[in-house]
Amino acid sequence: MADRKATLTVDGLDKSIELPVYSGALGPDVIDVRGLGGEGLFTYDPGFMATSSCQSAITYIDGGQGMLLHRGYPIGQLAQHSNFVELCYTLLFGDLPDDDQYAEFQARIRNHTMVHDQLNNFFKGFRRDAHPMSILCSVTGGLAAFYHDHMNIAREEDRVISAVRLIAKMPTIAAMAYKYNIGQPFNSPRNDLNYAENFLYMMFATPAEEYRVNPVYAKAMDRIFMLHADHEQNASTSTVRMAGSTGANPFACISAGIAALWGPAHGGANEAVLKMLDEIGDDSEENIQRFIDKAKDKNDPFKLMGFGHRVYRNFDPRARVMKETCDEVLDELGLADDPQLKIAKRLEQIALEDDYFIERKLYPNVDFYSGIVLKAMGIPTNMFTVIFAVSRTIGWISHWHEMLSDSYKISRPRQLYTGHDQRDYPQKK
Ligand code: CMC
Repeated sequence: MADRKATLTVDGLDKSIELPVYSGALGPDVIDVRGLGGEGLFTYDPGFMATSSCQSAITYIDGGQGMLLHRGYPIGQLAQHSNFVELCYTLLFGDLPDDDQYAEFQARIRNHTMVHDQLNNFFKGFRRDAHPMSILCSVTGGLAAFYHDHMNIAREEDRVISAVRLIAKMPTIAAMAYKYNIGQPFNSPRNDLNYAENFLYMMFATPAEEYRVNPVYAKAMDRIFMLHADHEQNASTSTVRMAGSTGANPFACISAGIAALWGPAHGGANEAVLKMLDEIGDDSEENIQRFIDKAKDKNDPFKLMGFGHRVYRNFDPRARVMKETCDEVLDELGLADDPQLKIAKRLEQIALEDDYFIERKLYPNVDFYSGIVLKAMGIPTNMFTVIFAVSRTIGWISHWHEMLSDSYKISRPRQLYTGHDQRDYPQKK
């Protein structure tokens, strides 16, 4: 794999060090620095600005061109022609399924949508107003207590069973967290519905009256699941890989991923966008400009939520599809004049013409419009990141499975130590 070499010279070191350079299928070449430790040197890259932490064949992003490929397929084409369950299969196994493979995979997922009756008791330990991310994080970790039968992570079939269980049960647990919050009884999954329909059913049906899933909502929900399914080595996926590298069980690893996703710089951004739009409140030009100015002010911690991305230095391709979905859903619901949508569009327009945002290559990301769609569908703000976690579970578990299918080492970064030199503990008088 090493086509070329990089030569490193270090002041004060009387020899140069040769490092292999690898070329991937796409994207920048990488310098293999693993040999540096043996030379008494470490690399320093806080925040992983230029570090590949692993090899992966799952997802490719070209941030400069605004390109996102899952197993080679562009996200725009997948969003148009595929569906979430098919994408789950593709991410996990590497290729699109044929009809039989799809039917079998769908049946396997349906077979695991219910949760163990004992799991219901977990919810009662939470306050009714607990944030549903906190419930999701804990209950997902708790799943490990139920599946001792298939947790040999060295066995491929056990890993696939865990993946299927997680994909199948996450919507059930997410809907249960919502129902617990609002004091309604839990709904058992309905396997005659598709993945997105079943989630909406478990969220919104009550025993009091018949509930019919709105097909517009179901289509939008499936798209939202697809657009958040995977994004290569982002913070939460790297967390899942890191937890997995210790040999931890898959449910614990996914729970770690949920925790990492929760932050407003990552999956919490969709919730933060809606809070920001609420705070902006009125759509007058001067009010919107005031918030743009706040976002540009270095002395103000306020950021334009749903804007910017570590990797995309061009339009986030997921944001394009999300914006279209947003327009479709709000049009169909007769909400094209929704005041928050108006504010969002105007904010985007002003920011895209503003030198501050242009120079820093800050564009709307996937979460700029997702919250507006979710809100229009009646989903409360505190469930937005939960829905992101339901979608991203397939990405997390595919990366975990990929890592364990090959040789791997425990993740153990080093540091640039800046503390005290050794010193003596003072003698007591
Ligand atoms: N509003 C105003 N200024 C911004 C913003 C923003 N949303 N994002 C970045 N900047 C500025 C930042 O202050 C910095 O300016 P300067 O060079 O003058 O110091 C410059 O742009 C570069 O930003 P950075 O923070 O160094 O970039 P990063 O790659 O470390 O952070 C980010 C990326 C996504 C954390 C950041 O853009 C951000 O906090 N955005 C808002 C939160 C958000 O929408 N997150 C969701 C990401 S997409 C969903 C997901 O995949 O999780």
